[in-house]
Amino acid sequence: MTFKILIGLSLLTIILYNARISPSQELPCVSQPRYYTNKSLLRNPVRYLIDTCVDEDQCFGWGDRQRAIVTTYLVSLLSDRQFGIYMTNPCALENFLAPNKVNWIVKKDELDGLCARNFYMYNDHLQHNRQHQMIETADFQTLFPEDVIYFHTAQDYLPSIRRNKLTADKIPWLHRYTLGEAYGFIMRHLFVLNKSTQKTVTELLLKHVKNHTLVCAHVRMGIKGIDFLRTPKSELQVIWDFLHRYNDINKYKIYVATDLNETKAQALKLFRDQIFDTVGIIDQMHRSKSCEVFRRVIVEQEILTRCDILMLTQSTVGMIAAFTRNRNEGLYCFYKERVFPCTI
Ligand SMILES: *[C@@H]1O[C@H](CO)[C@@H](O)[C@H](O)[C@H]1NC(C)=O
Ligand SMILES: *[C@@H]1O[C@H](CO)[C@@H](O)[C@H](O)[C@H]1NC(C)=O
Ligand SMILES: *[C@@H]1O[C@H](CO)[C@@H](O)[C@H](O)[C@H]1NC(C)=O
Ligand SMILES: *[C@@H]1O[C@H](CO)[C@@H](O)[C@H](O)[C@H]1NC(C)=O
Repeated sequence: MTFKILIGLSLLTIILYNARISPSQELPCVSQPRYYTNKSLLRNPVRYLIDTCVDEDQCFGWGDRQRAIVTTYLVSLLSDRQFGIYMTNPCALENFLAPNKVNWIVKKDELDGLCARNFYMYNDHLQHNRQHQMIETADFQTLFPEDVIYFHTAQDYLPSIRRNKLTADKIPWLHRYTLGEAYGFIMRHLFVLNKSTQKTVTELLLKHVKNHTLVCAHVRMGIKGIDFLRTPKSELQVIWDFLHRYNDINKYKIYVATDLNETKAQALKLFRDQIFDTVGIIDQMHRSKSCEVFRRVIVEQEILTRCDILMLTQSTVGMIAAFTRNRNEGLYCFYKERVFPCTI
């Protein structure tokens, strides 16, 4: 009898103990009042929304990361938070880009001791509509009680952000832009090339392009199993035929950005009198641990924004290059075995 009660009691304690532990892990921490060094109370302390992509994250490729940056930046405006980027995978973004109009570099010690939470919004199909709904109707003061939100996503929530009723007040300019214009504006607003990237690009263009017309193709092939097949090898000839229209050596220079060594090699061979190349390694960013892969993507996207003629395949990196380039003249798209003029 006593024995049974004892067992019962200890089971109960385990249950109680669990009940106490698990919800308390889920409970958000409570923001504490913050003080100046002279001990007087800070009235409106800075709160942060930080686009986060660290080693263990699902941050995918540079296109996905740019979508995440745009979403996070806009949500920071909606929620009156200081925007930051914390990207260390496969190496720090500051190796290539620097802040332009917004200082998105947040020093880790600035955040020491602040109440922080990770907030994940990945493309889980079941939740996708719910996430959009949430962004559309969120009151961010309630949704994010913590001082620091590490925001993890890879999606574009711009349409839902537009529909949030806070937007008219907090981001009035967003309604004047199309989606492409908004992306271009935000990219130029947040980033300039870091000095060394700037040097790489300037020297490359000075050396190879000078007064020639620059003709570019972004040939995203896609690799089955890593991402998806985007441009079948059997259709590449259509793209090469398009570039062959510009075969006047005295007038045109050619740049081909691609995610496959084999395609790069083919282009270098086909256009050897007109083509030039840059530094870095060609690979998929979300499986690579190499900083040189990141470097190439950044340098190539910058080159694409400078092209007089720009032909795109299916890719966010290419699309954002076109948005940042911000012109419809000379813009072409490849789709289903055809190359045709298109607009941003
Ligand atoms: C403490 O420092 C802050 C910021 O420098 C200042 O605004 C405030 O007046 C100071 N308070 C006192 C009591 O000196
Ligand atoms: C700019 O890039 C170079 C090389 O990628 C890097 O070594 C340097 O630290 C970067 N500059 C800044 C200010 O981060
Ligand atoms: C580029 O400049 C060189 C000399 O500076 C000139 O001979 C050439 O015709 C120019 N080419 C074009 C396409 O303007
Ligand atoms: C392309 O070649 C480089 C250098 O040989 C290699 O490191 C890289 O993994 C290759 N990329 C792909 C996608 O196979």
